[in-house]
Amino acid sequence: MTCMRIAVLSSREVPRGRPIGVRRLGMDLVFWRDDSGRIHALLDDCPHRRARLSLGKVVGGKIQCPYHGFEFDGSGKVIKIPALGRSAKLPEYLKAFSMPVYDAYDIVWVWYGGGEPRGAPRFFEDLEGLEAYSEYSEVWGVSLPRAVENQLDVFHLPFVHYNTIGRGGRTLVHGPLVKPVDDYSFVVYPFNQVDRGQRPLRSSEIDVGKLRNYLWFIYPNLWENYISKNMRVVAFFAPVGSVSTKIYLRLYMKVTGVKPLDALIAKLLMPFNVYVLHQDRRVVTSQAGDIMRDKLIHADAPIAMYRRMYLSDKELNKLLEKKSWGKGS
Ligand code: FES
Ligand SMILES: [Fe+2]
Repeated sequence: MTCMRIAVLSSREVPRGRPIGVRRLGMDLVFWRDDSGRIHALLDDCPHRRARLSLGKVVGGKIQCPYHGFEFDGSGKVIKIPALGRSAKLPEYLKAFSMPVYDAYDIVWVWYGGGEPRGAPRFFEDLEGLEAYSEYSEVWGVSLPRAVENQLDVFHLPFVHYNTIGRGGRTLVHGPLVKPVDDYSFVVYPFNQVDRGQRPLRSSEIDVGKLRNYLWFIYPNLWENYISKNMRVVAFFAPVGSVSTKIYLRLYMKVTGVKPLDALIAKLLMPFNVYVLHQDRRVVTSQAGDIMRDKLIHADAPIAMYRRMYLSDKELNKLLEKKSWGKGS
């Protein structure tokens, strides 16, 4: 796999006028906005004597190290070394490690793996027209696959969410029907029923036309739950480190067509989604870490599909194995 983009932040988290330090992919990173509002990222590790750049300031759109005032641009190039004076030729070896950044759909992407990033990051095309959303995020002490796989699990609902989205005791799983969109994306059509002794349908026997709800996953960490034409839940899972993942939950709505009003409605409905998320959290944070020792069943097909992608992504596996990158290394 070469050069994958990964959603790591909500753009709303990057303020104007000051940097923020964020740990992602096992690395300490600093993000800031230049004067035009564009977001940049460097390793949060000054190449001079390794202070944290995120403790510094944004000066003229550049990041200024808090220790000796060296200034760096978004490409990591040193622009100013106050101690050498204005007339100095700046040494090229003093380069900070830069991360190319994409900011689209209010999400900040960085990339990993070899090669140069090309094209815009993929997102859910079916979200077109739904602009208003509310957002909630929190960090779970679990690996990226544990967080992702929970959202692809179509048969935990009657147990984990027995009194909310899993009401009705539909424990029997048909299929599950998993349709690949391409090498990095697939759609799952959940179809569960109360067990009356009927045989679970094979995925080829399921009539998709009758099913309205679906899950859409875009590797490595974007997930959508199509609830209705006017309502979607979108999540992305930002890996902090090997066993730490920040979960971003968005509720997109179009009820009135007036964006601020729809955003307010989405905000009022968010506590229910957070309640559901915490039902998951209780169980998922109890799972043992080693996914390779899970013993899957047929109904775990969406999880197996994701796992094949994740396990063949050597670059991401390597990044998430590392205990620390930047500080202390
Ligand atoms: S440590 Fe950053 S300028 Fe010296
Ligand atoms: Fe759940």
